[in-house]
Amino acid sequence: APLGSRNTLRVNARAKLLVEVRDPTKLPEILAYPAIRGGKVLVLGEGSNMLIGGDVDGTVLAMANRGVETFQRDDRVLIRVAAGERWDDFVRWSLGQGYAGLENLILIPGTVGASPIQNIGAYGVEVAEFIDTVEAWDTHKGEFVVLDKAACAFSYRDSTFKQQPGRWIVVAVTFALPRERPLSLDYAGIREEVTKMGVERATPYHVAEAVVRLRSRKLPDPAVIGNAGSFFKNPIIGAIKADALALAHPGLPVWPHTGGTAKISAGWLIEAAGFKGERDGDAGISNRHALVLVNHGKATGPQLWAFAQKVIAGVEAKFGVTLEPEPLVV
Ligand code: EPU
Repeated sequence: APLGSRNTLRVNARAKLLVEVRDPTKLPEILAYPAIRGGKVLVLGEGSNMLIGGDVDGTVLAMANRGVETFQRDDRVLIRVAAGERWDDFVRWSLGQGYAGLENLILIPGTVGASPIQNIGAYGVEVAEFIDTVEAWDTHKGEFVVLDKAACAFSYRDSTFKQQPGRWIVVAVTFALPRERPLSLDYAGIREEVTKMGVERATPYHVAEAVVRLRSRKLPDPAVIGNAGSFFKNPIIGAIKADALALAHPGLPVWPHTGGTAKISAGWLIEAAGFKGERDGDAGISNRHALVLVNHGKATGPQLWAFAQKVIAGVEAKFGVTLEPEPLVV
């Protein structure tokens, strides 16, 4: 089965078998098929956060279950969303229902099932804040499990799902969304955009609109040019090393992080190392945003990966910082 239209980096790889999973209760049955059992299994949502390195010698499970249910547990309203729902649709639905909190996460590509895997985050907010539980098929135990937030071990662009690749197949995510929450306006650019709107009292809608404007300005649209969003994580390094780097390189953005560490801007490092807008054939770095690896047309998985390696080596040589890829590389 062709995967070219199923990954936003538009790598034209193939899979031996592709199964659309509309009813996840059938997963045990599906995984027991002789053609699937024991082989490689790759789980896919919209393929917006992965680099497919080559043909998949196994089965791709495309999670396509749908549904949003709201229910009450104790004194809380919980919202259970099927893994196959589009993330951005869910964000817009939640705002329409009068929930607050997801406005900073509008316009992120991909599915709800993918959102806990890398703990999606943008403009000062991470999805972990709103996750109550994640339901998944545990391939190690061969059973459905419910992981509470602690078991998910969320941190910056990380979770237990990412730490143990291939173990879990996320089938649904349950969110606890507040009706009221202070707006997160502190990330660079948000407050300015909201101020420009000239409203007396900003609401989550205004913040959502501000994020839409910023993202559309800064990030290349995967519908126009193949990309998987940020291809590199912002490195988290010792605060002392970060201070030294910032002293040597004025302009390098440094954000405080937990426990004596700091997060530094990979985009800045990549641009300063001269890679922004550069390319080898069809594999390159976006001229809009240095964190984004782009496919100008027919780049293969290995060509994209080779260009990413070149960027990592260049930044390492110039700054002594090792960048790590952010998407899943398979
Ligand atoms: N910068 C450059 N050159 C560039 C891009 C950025 O110098 O080409 C510097 C600038 O100083 C800029 C700073 O980096 O002010 C921060 O840039 P931006 O606000 O775009 O954020 P980021 O750190 O590059 C992260 C996330 C994005 C998210 C934005 C906003 C990661 C890996 N990426 O990017 O997430 O949208 O913050 O919160 O943490 C994604 O994960 O796919 C993604 C797009």
